[in-house]
Amino acid sequence: MSSTADNFPASITLVGAGKMGSAMLSGWIAMGLNAQTITILEPAPHPDLEATCKTEGVALNPPLSALTPAEVLILAIKPQMLESVAPALSPLVGPGTLILSILAGKRIADLAARLPGTSAIVRAMPNTPAAIGRGITGVAASSSVTERQRGMTDALLGAVGAVEWLASETLIDAVTAVSGSGPAYIFYLAEALAKAGEAAGLPADLAARLARATVEGSGELMHLSPELTPAKLRENVTSPGGTTAAALAVLMADGGLSPLMRDAVAAAQRRAGELSG
Ligand SMILES: NC(=O)c1ccc[n+]([C@@H]2O[C@H](COP(=O)([O-])OP(=O)(O)OC[C@H]3O[C@@H](n4cnc5c(N)ncnc54)[C@H](OP(=O)(O)O)[C@@H]3O)[C@@H](O)[C@H]2O)c1
Repeated sequence: MSSTADNFPASITLVGAGKMGSAMLSGWIAMGLNAQTITILEPAPHPDLEATCKTEGVALNPPLSALTPAEVLILAIKPQMLESVAPALSPLVGPGTLILSILAGKRIADLAARLPGTSAIVRAMPNTPAAIGRGITGVAASSSVTERQRGMTDALLGAVGAVEWLASETLIDAVTAVSGSGPAYIFYLAEALAKAGEAAGLPADLAARLARATVEGSGELMHLSPELTPAKLRENVTSPGGTTAAALAVLMADGGLSPLMRDAVAAAQRRAGELSG
């Protein structure tokens, strides 16, 4: 069986090292990827990024003319930059290059049209807990992506969390609506719980601390209990006729949280479709 290290590419060009790009870089270095195989193109590098590149030996902003196509070209710029950046990137894409894009809303066909040097393209939708190595990324591949290129994708994205391969690119908008945008729903849950605590008579700062720690701790408990479904974890803390059951009767009623969440996810999915192109 091949190890993660066997699946690291021989060379990587990372275009855009903002929040996501930097999180991936940290993950790769932590997993032992040879930093000297990485080249970063980033017009406004954060001082922390400059320091990391210097310490680890990552090439930061070498002249484009000095670069040849890497085994993997990773796009982590803002999606609206793609059109203006693509012409300069074209010489960095050869027939053996895998393009790995995390650009929200940019379809495989858009990427193929902008960067025609290869047909091997992977489109990924990560989420913000990638910043702490606890993200989850939905991934779709063009038909010419090889097993080796899938392995490289698993190794590179696996450095910042879980990776889920999608049967079809059409599922990306739904992934965006569930896990891409999902962290914001959970943060909002913490806000709403804090507000409810205030309404129940708690001082605002105490209510905020209670709500925050409850969301943090519950997420961690779920993380540490992979054998238990969320439903089982919920049942385990719900005594019949008790206080939790009283609240859940409201949340789980017709017109409660479940249909509201379905509508919210559908709205995000619709919007993801509108923004694609
Ligand atoms: N953050 C998330 O949770 C998340 C989730 C899913 C998908 N994504 C996708 O990930 C991508 C990056 O998001 P992010 O949150 O990391 O954004 P970000 O922090 O703004 O990072 C984008 C970086 O690309 C740089 N850049 C701009 N023009 C460039 C060029 N010509 N060449 C190279 N680099 C260039 C930007 O520099 P400037 O600051 O100078 O413009 C910035 O540092 C986006 O396409 C987004 O859709 C992000």
